[in-house]
Amino acid sequence: MLKVIQVGIGGFGRCWLETIKRNNSVATHAALVDIDEGVLKEKAEAYGVPAECCFTRLDDALDKVDADAVVCVTPPAYHREVCVKALEAGKHAITEKPLADTIEDCRAMVAAAKKTGPPPVHNPVTQYKGGCSSIPTRAAPSGA
Ligand SMILES: NC(=O)c1ccc[n+]([C@@H]2O[C@H](COP(=O)([O-])OP(=O)(O)OC[C@H]3O[C@@H](n4cnc5c(N)ncnc54)[C@H](O)[C@@H]3O)[C@@H](O)[C@H]2O)c1
Repeated sequence: MLKVIQVGIGGFGRCWLETIKRNNSVATHAALVDIDEGVLKEKAEAYGVPAECCFTRLDDALDKVDADAVVCVTPPAYHREVCVKALEAGKHAITEKPLADTIEDCRAMVAAAKKTGPPPVHNPVTQYKGGCSSIPTRAAPSGA
């Protein structure tokens, strides 16, 4: 079972909330993270994630829950910060498109991945595939 911290749960984050719920034999939410406390409360209730697993800062989620992967569904300006933090904490990093909004940020993410293990999984084409349902299984630990 892939334990996922989802960062960014408003907007397109709903697609990932639904996808992980739909694929609950391979993935589950270890935590939800969003800077908007209202969205956090609403989605935690809607998706049955306990309040103690909901955070406004990724650092707190990384400290307090056991997780395999971080899915980043924030605006692109934050993809670098979220993914590098996830990789440095030893997690898989899966990010929404675009990889980042500057070449400098993209290079920093690739450099972090080279140091820490597998490259970040980028999700460029979900609009052509009817959802993100193939992504969690790509990042799932072997045997999941
Ligand atoms: N694959 C697709 O078809 C598709 C479709 C739409 C959006 N996207 C991508 O999804 C990502 C999010 O887009 P959106 O439209 O949902 O954006 P949005 O502006 O609606 O923000 C999404 C959520 O992220 C939260 N957030 C913002 N900064 C944060 C931070 N630093 N830490 C934690 N949470 C933070 C916001 O509070 C919000 O709830 C973007 O990368 C976008 O390109 C992909």
